[in-house]
Amino acid sequence: MLGRLNHVAIAVPDLAAASAVYRDTLGAKVTEPQALPEHGVTVVFIDVGNTKIELLEPLGEGSPIAAFLAKSPSGGMHHVCYEVDDIIAARDHLKASGARVLGNGNPKIGAHGKPVLFLHPKDFQGTLVELEQA
Ligand code: CO
Repeated sequence: MLGRLNHVAIAVPDLAAASAVYRDTLGAKVTEPQALPEHGVTVVFIDVGNTKIELLEPLGEGSPIAAFLAKSPSGGMHHVCYEVDDIIAARDHLKASGARVLGNGNPKIGAHGKPVLFLHPKDFQGTLVELEQA
């Protein structure tokens, strides 16, 4: 079921400042910021060859990463995203295995225009897991 690592996401308090670190200090190519109001975040991606880094900044009231940044004000690793071939089949398999799918259980369209789901960190070694249909 589990495919390749699509990205590792890092929550940041200041997307412009974090982008500058990746672009100027680390010499990486950073995409333009993309607002995702349905997910409560603004994102950029950094292609590192074998996977991507996603930088996330809160967007709007009640952003799902606001509480995370309140606990880790300088930012930190927020989730990992694995690719799956069929997100509905993956969801049904996970639910049947007792894993908790966040939200209403239905995929939302993610930053790459593909369906995504998030899985409860308590069911995956304390790590928030995103699944993206490849
Ligand atoms: Co993500």
